[in-house]
Amino acid sequence: MLENRKIILGITGSIAAYKAVYLARTLIKRGAEVQVVITPSGKEFITPVTLSSLTQKPVISEFFTANTGEWHSHVDLGLWADAMLVAPATASTIAKMANGIADNMLVTTYLSARSPVFVAPAMDFDMYRHPTTRRNLDLLRSYGNHIIEPAEGALASGLEGKGRMEEPEKIADILDRFFDESGSFAGKRVMVTAGPTYEKIDPVRFIGNYSSGKMGYAIAAAFAARGADVTLVSGPVTLSAPAGVKRVDVESAREMYNVATACFPDTDIAVMCAAVADFAPAQTAVSKIKRGTDGMTLQLVPNPDIAAALGKMKKPGQILAGFALESDNEEANARHKLEKKNLDFIVLNSLADKGACFGGDNNKVTVISRSGDIKACPMKSKSEVAEDIVTYISEMFLK
Ligand code: PMT
Repeated sequence: MLENRKIILGITGSIAAYKAVYLARTLIKRGAEVQVVITPSGKEFITPVTLSSLTQKPVISEFFTANTGEWHSHVDLGLWADAMLVAPATASTIAKMANGIADNMLVTTYLSARSPVFVAPAMDFDMYRHPTTRRNLDLLRSYGNHIIEPAEGALASGLEGKGRMEEPEKIADILDRFFDESGSFAGKRVMVTAGPTYEKIDPVRFIGNYSSGKMGYAIAAAFAARGADVTLVSGPVTLSAPAGVKRVDVESAREMYNVATACFPDTDIAVMCAAVADFAPAQTAVSKIKRGTDGMTLQLVPNPDIAAALGKMKKPGQILAGFALESDNEEANARHKLEKKNLDFIVLNSLADKGACFGGDNNKVTVISRSGDIKACPMKSKSEVAEDIVTYISEMFLK
């Protein structure tokens, strides 16, 4: 899929810059034309001579070539590319990209690029998990950039953890998949539900859960990246909508039900990833409930089951997928939900898997089909899980 694709390879000042040599070679071997743009500190780690010998193109680093005064147009470069790949991407470059600080050729080219952008972070574990880096990566995601999550393992600092740039072959595979037009969802209308629901007790309190929305937002982003027309029905979360995705904000399960059932008849594929509260207070107090000396009993009433309602509405040709969040008897419970809600497949994630499900960046899922086939996946980033789910739908239902 990379044959004749024009790729800008942005290299920044990380020890992982040596991997960019293998990455350039892998992309070229797969038929791509590679133009390297390197930051000044990137050149401290890897010489332009190595990169230009490999790519057969001069490496661009500055706005002008020092001895000839030749001007390098970041705008032309940005228009030339079919994809821009920043690998390795340091915390500093990620921050500059997220905030538009165009003080070098690489970030300037990024701001001019009309092509899809892929970012493969590489940094120390603590830098990677710092709230600033997390926020900047979320910002890049919200611009529609594709973050290639780093792997876990030994880091140059001597520490162990997440932060190693993904391996070149895997990065090339991600680009390959992206350009695989047979997996395109152009013309498909997709609805994804995400996040928690809040069920009001009084004006200041609610019943909710720990869902951050990350899994559902990653699924919405993965569909949008493959050309789908995506509506994201989102409970209250702090994430920004992925680029190109239409987001409809709701708070309670009842509101989510109203939006989802109205949207579903015009939907080809629905993925129900929201953690919907099964119960709501029978009444919402108009003013803040005062503390008393006695205990308090809250009467709850069941919320509508949104997935089950869509399962009843489903017409031939529509695809309806659900998630199952289980703590025990996992497979049997998931199969039961699959049948009861008339889903086409269900994605099981378990509270027993540490670091999966709620809140974090990773998930470990098992996909169970209607016919009973099971596909168990290892722990992966939520972006990768989302890619897997979208690929599964493409392979099982659209080919
Ligand atoms: O948001 P994150 O922090 O990234 O976490 C992701 C997640 C753990 C929330 C997600 O991966 C997940 O498991 N979502 C479904 C959680 C859930 O409510 O599971 P359930 O087993 O209770 O529900 C089964 C299915 O029915 C789900 O598709 C759910 O969206 C749907 N449902 C449930 C209840 C209800 N009243 N209406 C529904 O539509």
